[in-house]
Amino acid sequence: TVIRAGSYTDELIKTAKSIASPGRGILAIDESNATCGKRLASIGLDNTETNRQAYRQLLLTTPGLGEYISGAILFEETLYQSTTDGKKFVDCLRDENIVPGIKVDKGLDGLASRSAEFYNQGARFAKWRTVVSIPCGPSALAVKEAAWGLARYAAISQDNGLVPIVEPEILLDGDHPIERTLEVAEKVWAEVFYYLAENNVTFEGILLKPSMVTPGAEHKEKASPDTIANYTLTMLRRRVPPAVPGIMFLSGGQSEVEATLNLNAMNQSPNPWHVSFSYARALQNTVLKTWQGRPENVEAAQKSLLVRAKANSSAQLGKYSA
Ligand code: 13P
Repeated sequence: TVIRAGSYTDELIKTAKSIASPGRGILAIDESNATCGKRLASIGLDNTETNRQAYRQLLLTTPGLGEYISGAILFEETLYQSTTDGKKFVDCLRDENIVPGIKVDKGLDGLASRSAEFYNQGARFAKWRTVVSIPCGPSALAVKEAAWGLARYAAISQDNGLVPIVEPEILLDGDHPIERTLEVAEKVWAEVFYYLAENNVTFEGILLKPSMVTPGAEHKEKASPDTIANYTLTMLRRRVPPAVPGIMFLSGGQSEVEATLNLNAMNQSPNPWHVSFSYARALQNTVLKTWQGRPENVEAAQKSLLVRAKANSSAQLGKYSA
């Protein structure tokens, strides 16, 4: 096979494959401090470093998590943080055979040196999220800007040993029908792959994080999991080369069960890529509610994380039943 020669190429391909492994997906806990604060506020906790550490510790020390989770996306604070017993979170993940990842979408300035530093800290993949909104357009210029930024980020990540997760999030907001989402998604992914190729990105060493193709959240009719799977897979087959190892969907505000059912529907027949999850809210909502910031609830909260992780693992294998 002829693949762009870079010092990390073999490692990138191996990393991407291990994240895209059967029955496993990504736990996204890369909320910025501001967003984490909102989650903590929902259970009446202050947004302090101690509370964020306690919450991330609960998640990352869940026994047996690695059976269902292959990668965890962290915010910078967490990458450098340890448990209250002094064990690095990165080591907690390694012990469960979970690859540590890092959110890097703060701009291209200095990204190469930041990425190299994150690699030294143990990160092996990165995530960059760019938002595209349907009700406001998106304009041709917005799509081009999003695609170019993602492609530059992907090339820089690969040069520094990090597998880039390419995430143009097409927001659910709006009252448009599913056909309109399909049209926008096709446009966005066409440009993303055009610029990924222009930037000599190794497709075997990336992962995608798309939104599912659904009607707008305020559309008059809801779509069934079969319809969503059909539209989403149609879009992906038209736009994503089979060289890409994994498609790791975001949940985007879907309920926990919706996100699982939709993923399950997408795995009812073989796909050219590993089709899995990289959920934040759809893995954490019940965990937060169960925890309530109380030490005596940690075990129950960890169990509830395992319930969602296992359900999505089954959905990755196309074997989930509610
Ligand atoms: P949600 O699954 O909550 O949409 O989060 C997606 C995300 O990008 C976090 O990494």
